[in-house]
Amino acid sequence: MSIPNRDSFTSKFGVIAAAAGSAVGLGNIWKFPYEVGQNGGGAFLILYFFFVVVIGLPVMMSEFVIGRKTNVNAVRAFKKLSPNKPWYLTGVMGVAAAFMILSFYGVVAGWTLEYIHLAIINAFKGQSPEELSKGFNGFITNPIKPVIWQMIFMILTAVVVIGGIKNGIEKITKILMPVLFLIIVLMGIRSLTLGVNTSESGEIIGRSVDGLKFLFRPDFSKIDIDVVLDALGQAFFSLSLGMGTIITYGSYIGKNNNLKKTAVEVAFLDTLIAILAGVAIFPAVFYFNVAPTEGPGLVFSVLPSIFQKMVGGYVWTLAFFVLFAVAALTSSISLLEVAVAYFAEELKVKRVTATIIVASLITILGVACSLSNSVLKDVTILGRNIFDTMDHVSSNFLLPIGGMFIAIFTGWAMKKSEFFNELTNQGAIKVKLFSGIYFIIRFVAPIAIAIVFLYSVGLLG
Ligand code: PFF
Repeated sequence: MSIPNRDSFTSKFGVIAAAAGSAVGLGNIWKFPYEVGQNGGGAFLILYFFFVVVIGLPVMMSEFVIGRKTNVNAVRAFKKLSPNKPWYLTGVMGVAAAFMILSFYGVVAGWTLEYIHLAIINAFKGQSPEELSKGFNGFITNPIKPVIWQMIFMILTAVVVIGGIKNGIEKITKILMPVLFLIIVLMGIRSLTLGVNTSESGEIIGRSVDGLKFLFRPDFSKIDIDVVLDALGQAFFSLSLGMGTIITYGSYIGKNNNLKKTAVEVAFLDTLIAILAGVAIFPAVFYFNVAPTEGPGLVFSVLPSIFQKMVGGYVWTLAFFVLFAVAALTSSISLLEVAVAYFAEELKVKRVTATIIVASLITILGVACSLSNSVLKDVTILGRNIFDTMDHVSSNFLLPIGGMFIAIFTGWAMKKSEFFNELTNQGAIKVKLFSGIYFIIRFVAPIAIAIVFLYSVGLLG
């Protein structure tokens, strides 16, 4: 049942870099700061932390345990632990989610490459936010350019995945994650030290400290059930949970790794980088008195104009888009790996072949996503264009349902001792703490996720 000569991570740092690389992505850099800002600042943060620690972490531990215990892809892992039962369908759903998420993820990641290119040629110089916004819309509604960048990004992703675990994913994330960390810390410091912006006549235009207030000040009046649901959904997406990514990475982790420690470190780094992204973005936004608008608009249209006005703007703009692309790349390789591991191991084809086929199929699906901003914009599925459908179905359906089944599987289909031994083989755990984690996996996580899911499809509330 196990696979001979299977590739694996070679070091603890490699494991952390790869798993944190998967977790830290587009979700952290633009989605998290925006959600925090719009959903009550510190109040949202408290909820988010709560979900990361109380639900995200136990589910992540489950995924690591399922993966390392079986050392196979996310579909066969369930078959191995529970033969002749339909649990493996959880893994199948995960592979489907990988296809769908990477199809639109690759499109947005492609945009970051165009913006690196624009930053290099200094194309943002002197442009107002309105002009930049026009430029952004012009770019994404062009039928050709974004597709070319998406293809280039998918080729980069495929090249790393073809390299395998230790020579591809581990090698590249070990370099790129520290780079990303360094860039984001520098940007945070730069943004924080902007101070007070005054016009020539001495009028105050904006203060960077207001950005911090926007980000952290708890406004509990904004908290309603939708915000609670957003916080849980964001925790899942951001931690790469619910679709077998962490199962797949877990399957390449050696027995000498302390899985609970690894899970805690990955969740910590993911949360830290999300907060640092907020600290890098909002003080600058407030300093220049720009409306903290939504998602892609903020990042692609507003930020370049802000950076232009800073000393060393050329470098900051370039650094930001490199950071953005790096974060996307280390996540997209984890998405591709889920599908490649499955096809390579189940169809017994070479890894290179599996990668080329899977990446090509995802790219084709991604082209349709990209074109849904231009020539295919009238093609809709239940009122959404192709891009939004991929995002909606995967994030709101496949990930939460997958996460719920993973928790139920670990809590009810696996033996308690199996879970306990795999989780604690490199370090004891207090009995009470373990009992708490196990209780969450058996009861709290499945019920909480079910409630979120039922709300999000409109069957509750
Ligand atoms: N965690 C990534 C982000 O925050 O951008 C997205 C992601 C990667 C989701 C891998 C799911 C996944 F399996």
